[in-house]
Amino acid sequence: MMQEDVFRQNLKLRTEEAEKIIAGYLPVSGEADKNTPQTITDAMRYSVLAGGKRLRPVLMKEMYDMFGGKREGIAFFMASMEMIHTYSLVHDDLPAMDNDEYRRGKKTTWAVYGDAMGILAGDALLNYAFETAAEAFRVCTEKEDYLAVSRAMQILAENAGIRGMIGGQVADIEAEDRADELTEQQILYIHTHKTGALIKAAMQIGAVLGGDADETILQQIGQCAMNIGVAFQIQDDILDVTGDSAELGKPIGSDAANGKQTYVTLKGLEAAQKEVERLSEEAIQILREFPGDHEFMEALIRHLINRRS
Ligand code: IPE
Ligand code: IPE
Ligand code: MG
Ligand code: MG
Ligand code: MG
Repeated sequence: MMQEDVFRQNLKLRTEEAEKIIAGYLPVSGEADKNTPQTITDAMRYSVLAGGKRLRPVLMKEMYDMFGGKREGIAFFMASMEMIHTYSLVHDDLPAMDNDEYRRGKKTTWAVYGDAMGILAGDALLNYAFETAAEAFRVCTEKEDYLAVSRAMQILAENAGIRGMIGGQVADIEAEDRADELTEQQILYIHTHKTGALIKAAMQIGAVLGGDADETILQQIGQCAMNIGVAFQIQDDILDVTGDSAELGKPIGSDAANGKQTYVTLKGLEAAQKEVERLSEEAIQILREFPGDHEFMEALIRHLINRRS
């Protein structure tokens, strides 16, 4: 097992690497681009550069290395993934959605730039994400590279859209203030889609670009990722109750204020924590079937169980 200090150092290095890549692909602002309204590039940069764990790009890169680190273009997809994730947060925080004023330790994008600019900054990040991902075609040489980048684009689009994150966000909003209890199946739909889907996309794209992941292995990666994703969202629901807003960088009590049913309201804190552990262990079991070195990934999944932010 990886020692705690070695893991922390590794996580720090990988997060910093992702951070650098993400920052490098953002649009420039102000004097550097006089043809684009500065407000939008400022708002995009503000939301993405505010911080965050960079979990999805880190997971993507880890899978990429695990599967052979073969093809170019991974950096475009790492940046693209974080832009889509950040856009989902920018919109999630809007007054019409979760109505939150703090994120990543700072005022939310709408709270700084106004609702209209918050909506547009989210839209802008989503489009810029696909513009950035499409750049990966430019570094392809063989037919197989073009096919891999096409598959990666498709995975990204599907999981960000109505069959993924957006589908989950819709169900989450529709479940607000419901009189009756959500079923296990309904809460699982919300968690697998609003949160699992982007984590799945990150891990599958890493494998597709890293090596020759076939559809069978992509399916297994999907299962592993869904366990990580649902555990991650349950932990997020737990932290909304037991967390510290300074540590979290976002308000606690947001779910209760919005009349959300979560794993915690349905099963209680203790059962929710047990479920995070169970799902994480299951993810690790699936992970062990994959090629390459999984030591860091295993430690990362365990680290997420007890995360405080
Ligand atoms: C927050 O995601 C939204 C959820 C899916 C729970 P993260 O907890 O990964 O947020 P950042 O990127 O670290 O800010
Ligand atoms: C949001 O879930 C998941 C997204 C797709 C943005 P939450 O609404 O619980 O995320 P936080 O707690 O605001 O980060
Ligand atoms: Mg929400
Ligand atoms: Mg929210
Ligand atoms: Mg939450």
